[in-house]
Amino acid sequence: RKAYPAAITIFGAKGDLTRRKLIPALYNLFIENHLPALFEIFCVDFQTVDEAAFKNDLLAGVNEFSRNGKAEPSKWADFAARISYLQGDFTKKETYVSLKSKVEDFEKSGKQRGNRMFYFAVAPRFIEVIAEALYTRKLCSNKVHDRIVVEKPFGTDLDTAKKLNRFLTKRFSEKQIYRIDHYLGKETVQNIMAFRFANFVFEPLWNKNYIDHIQISVAEQVSVGKRGGYYDAAGAMRDMIQNHLMQLLCIVAMECPGAYKAEAIRDAKTKVLKNIRPFTTPQVFKNVVRAQYTAGEVDDVPKIAYRQEEQVSPESTTETFVALKMMIDNPRWEGVPFFLRTGKSMARQSSVIVVQFKDSPHKIFKDDIVPNRLIISIQPELEISLLFESKVPGLQMKLVPVEMDFTYQEAYTESLPEAYEALLLDVLQGDATLFMRADQVEAAWKVVMPILDAWKKSPSKQLHFYESGTWGPAAAGNLLKPYAKEWYRLPSRETVKKL
Ligand code: BG6
Repeated sequence: RKAYPAAITIFGAKGDLTRRKLIPALYNLFIENHLPALFEIFCVDFQTVDEAAFKNDLLAGVNEFSRNGKAEPSKWADFAARISYLQGDFTKKETYVSLKSKVEDFEKSGKQRGNRMFYFAVAPRFIEVIAEALYTRKLCSNKVHDRIVVEKPFGTDLDTAKKLNRFLTKRFSEKQIYRIDHYLGKETVQNIMAFRFANFVFEPLWNKNYIDHIQISVAEQVSVGKRGGYYDAAGAMRDMIQNHLMQLLCIVAMECPGAYKAEAIRDAKTKVLKNIRPFTTPQVFKNVVRAQYTAGEVDDVPKIAYRQEEQVSPESTTETFVALKMMIDNPRWEGVPFFLRTGKSMARQSSVIVVQFKDSPHKIFKDDIVPNRLIISIQPELEISLLFESKVPGLQMKLVPVEMDFTYQEAYTESLPEAYEALLLDVLQGDATLFMRADQVEAAWKVVMPILDAWKKSPSKQLHFYESGTWGPAAAGNLLKPYAKEWYRLPSRETVKKL
């Protein structure tokens, strides 16, 4: 998959995202030959820096965060020669004047216009400022070749998201706007579509007749760390549920799209969001659990309480954990609850989707039967497994649940691309399949707004606390009743027999 020559601009070049994700991803694309022969990366930020020191810092980022480990000096030198730093204030005209001349010089040198990608790795307050400048200075004006990439948070509520969409779509066509949700670029997440729609055996079972409930859980060990300034105003609902978990829900619950094409897939996902039963205020307090971490230990490392974190108010009522039950009102899912959960500073990192099948209606065995369960592990384990009953070898008819599983480690030798690699390449190639369309973002905000509004009215009502290093408050477990006793955890390998 080779792309046109590419002029890549990163606004917010001194930020964490650039160092940890964007440059390592571009570097990996480069060494694995996915970038076009002609490309250049223009790094724009406010600070004055020495360019050599800047590049060394990017190299340190690649060495630390790239899946390929340390960069090879000669390859890095080739790559780094295509990077230039442009000191500039995002609000000043001069910044865009010099950016434009650099981009045009690059294009002239290759005698080809090619693609332009402008990545907004900046605080939300700069999005409109930069977009306006790119538009008025005609840096991003070619409707086919020029693209902007906007990071989350995309608005802070439905109104601000709509306003931002209006602002951007007045200046750029929808096809030029790539709203990124990095979860969609994860290999294991992309594989859910393949699993569902390329294996006919599961599709007939994928509905209310056979499925009891579905759990989607993204547990993180990391705490808020240095991101308190952003996080305290956002909370887990805006940071994780509105985007990443909703997107996972869409992939699990969507109808089969007419084709593997951006618009068909995005239509199918948006329909799911529009069919989610709206939360009333009483339902918010019944079906949504919010909580905040207190001090504790995660993997034997002491952790401070959320309220003690840098830039977090000591009286903060911001949630670092959410668990909720939602229903989808459509013929496929009528009556099947979807349980979503996410939290920081939890016992272990585990992103997993559990499809719990119904119990067999007719029992012929004495033993208790554990209903079938399909587990899609997104990270850190990369696997799909199916739990089913099997006869224990011997003279009696005794049953135990066993697991049949597919792990990436055993099945493939390839190293998996990082989410940002897949997504950046898609942008360069003009493929919006894994990006969010305006109506999708708004539909997702619409779902969470009643929850955010109810919490805003009663900031401390039913705010639970959980110790760092645990699986969250007991209330989150109660939410599952009567469907399950507790949230699913990947069992230790000894407790489940393998076929
Ligand atoms: C980000 C959130 O979008 O996703 C972070 O802002 C979160 O709070 C991160 O930690 C999780 O991403 P991943 O890829 O590490 O699961």
